[in-house]
Amino acid sequence: MHSFLAGEKVVVLCGGPGAEREVSLRSGAAVSKALRALDAEVALMDVGADGAFQLADDVDVVFNALHGTFGEDGTIQQLLEERGVRYTGEGVAGSRLAFDKIASKQRFIERGVPTAAYVTARRGDPGIPHFGLPSVVKVPCQGSSVGIYIVKTQAEMDAAVAAAFAQTGEILIEEFIEGRELTVGILGEQALPVIEIRPKGGFYSYENKYTWTNRGGAAEHECPAALAPAVTRLVQETALAAHHALDLEVYSRVDVILDRQGRPYVLEVNTIPGMTETSLLPEAAGVAGLSMPKLCEKIVELSLEKWTANRRPW
Ligand SMILES: Nc1ncnc2c1ncn2[C@@H]1O[C@H](COP(=O)(O)OP(=O)(O)O)[C@@H](O)[C@H]1O
Ligand SMILES: [Mg+2]
Repeated sequence: MHSFLAGEKVVVLCGGPGAEREVSLRSGAAVSKALRALDAEVALMDVGADGAFQLADDVDVVFNALHGTFGEDGTIQQLLEERGVRYTGEGVAGSRLAFDKIASKQRFIERGVPTAAYVTARRGDPGIPHFGLPSVVKVPCQGSSVGIYIVKTQAEMDAAVAAAFAQTGEILIEEFIEGRELTVGILGEQALPVIEIRPKGGFYSYENKYTWTNRGGAAEHECPAALAPAVTRLVQETALAAHHALDLEVYSRVDVILDRQGRPYVLEVNTIPGMTETSLLPEAAGVAGLSMPKLCEKIVELSLEKWTANRRPW
């Protein structure tokens, strides 16, 4: 397959110090394989649990496959900019905003993007605002269902609030939306086919999010999701609106719940979504006719276009 990446020196960053280190290693391996199929000169680099990494001077572009803390929150983006290296995905500000569920929700509300009602609480506040049950307690800056507690009783709520405050000083308590779990990949200005996720155990938790942690697979996906055409369009438009509301420009994957009345609610936007062969974004891209190499090529292309548009000095 002829590609503009043929002969280009691409460093794939993966691993890293975050809670999603393991899946990131797998994303990095899958991305490397795809880029090699495009004849790029690929170096796969495990960033290591300490966040340290060395880059050669002649790197053309870094493909960022670091999920979660450090890789998805603006930190690595800042480090790469300081080194004058071009990289895939969103910039410092967009990454930081999308990674913070509280800041993201504030932005969604400002821009009219539907999202579950919520309150925030700080450690040491005199009382936790009552929110009704069930509800969802969240640590705002984590990924992959780390720090997400779906609570059905007051005792569970108290335990979840304590567990969340053990991790961070400000938490988010969200209305539980009963409905179908969807996710929508965004590539440039295109919303990909909608995926529906059906967890086998009820809640889509860290344990059943990745089929490889639970052999046999604890979640089933369907793409395109079986939705009426008008609902599909509404979900895709809502996902694209969420992407734009956070000033994102390159690619993302937007998590949505569709309630019983067919109303979509945006949960969050992932700016470094999983890229393993069984991950959601590659699956949706595949349904849209983009193989894994084509998807990776498109991500690099869109990323480089952004740098050109922003007239960066390098
Ligand atoms: N408000 C909500 N109502 C119902 N389910 C929720 C809600 N918030 C989160 N969940 C469930 O928890 C999962 C993880 O939440 P999410 O906000 O996407 O965080 P992350 O994926 O970063 O862990 C969702 O995929 C969904 O299954
Ligand atoms: Mg999510």
